[in-house]
Amino acid sequence: MIKNELDVSLHKTDTLKQKPAQDNLGFGRYLTDHMFVMKWNREKGWHDADIKAYSDFHLDPAAMVFHYGQAIFEGLKAYWGKDGSILMFRPRDNLKRLNNSALRMCMPRIPEDKVLQALKGLIYLEREWIPRGDGAALYIRPTMIATEAALGLRPSEEYLFFIITSPVGAYYSEGFNPTRIYVEDTYVRAVPGGVGEAKTAGNYAASVKALTEAQSKGFTQVLWLDALEHKYIEEVGTSNIFFVINDELITPPLGGTILPGITRDSVLKLAADWDITTREERISIDEVIAAAKDGSLTEAFGSGTAAVISPVGEFSYKNENISVGGGKTGPLAQRLFDGIQTLQRGGCPDPHDWLVRVA
Ligand code: COI
Repeated sequence: MIKNELDVSLHKTDTLKQKPAQDNLGFGRYLTDHMFVMKWNREKGWHDADIKAYSDFHLDPAAMVFHYGQAIFEGLKAYWGKDGSILMFRPRDNLKRLNNSALRMCMPRIPEDKVLQALKGLIYLEREWIPRGDGAALYIRPTMIATEAALGLRPSEEYLFFIITSPVGAYYSEGFNPTRIYVEDTYVRAVPGGVGEAKTAGNYAASVKALTEAQSKGFTQVLWLDALEHKYIEEVGTSNIFFVINDELITPPLGGTILPGITRDSVLKLAADWDITTREERISIDEVIAAAKDGSLTEAFGSGTAAVISPVGEFSYKNENISVGGGKTGPLAQRLFDGIQTLQRGGCPDPHDWLVRVA
């Protein structure tokens, strides 16, 4: 049960930050003027919901998030629509996924409808921060952390949920150009029965060692293999992964170790709408390399909220560099990138009801 109706108070700040130039936003470098916060404890449920000035938190050094890592988050975006409206893409799916992560991490669920209303209020208040440039958006980061000050290992009895927002451009410095991906065969991201499908901070913490090593060798990201055999493809550090083999679109199935990506789901549904055969199937790195070598692999790309669609131009596996699609962006990646961006900005019909209008 989710306790309490949510009364959201509004405390606007008059101290507004200077907005950044829109042509070089990068990702997550700038944070807007306001944020949404609410607290949870067993007695009151969710309470003290407030839209207020972006500010520091005061947390006890013994707050459980610092020690045992109960922290979950989401990423979604808001855009200016073609008609001047403000649109969010599939926000209900993000809030639902946050609640699934909460269940796995023994954290309280949020009231999705109420939080969506509060989110709309926050986005409307921050509307001047939504960038207008091509490919730019207001990135939204809902987050929940354990705040009880206690050192025994058990679920925290107090939590803080907050939403911060940031005007962003492309996630990768490559923009929409093909990325170089290092196939990781030493470190692993998630094991069956673990927390791989939860969007919890620890999954990202576990990935940074491999990421920094790959980046130091000139790669953009890491492609994770399964933890048991180091054989089957899982996902890329920031996104799910797709392959076009013999004109069919293949992606690893959701088996508990990979993130159930909302962009992944959008790609599968759009491809099906376009009469492209889609398969959610286990695929091994050996099969991918064989397909690249015999020419049947024509494209590979990642999908994620931050990165949208990121074409892969090259994989590196056990010291061998394998080019994909001649190192160029493939036609399906391009079509999906254009199609999703157009849809997100209300520039075409929305048959799956993915857009939520803020104003
Ligand atoms: C997102 O795509 O929204 C994510 O949360 C990935 C993160 C590493 C930026």
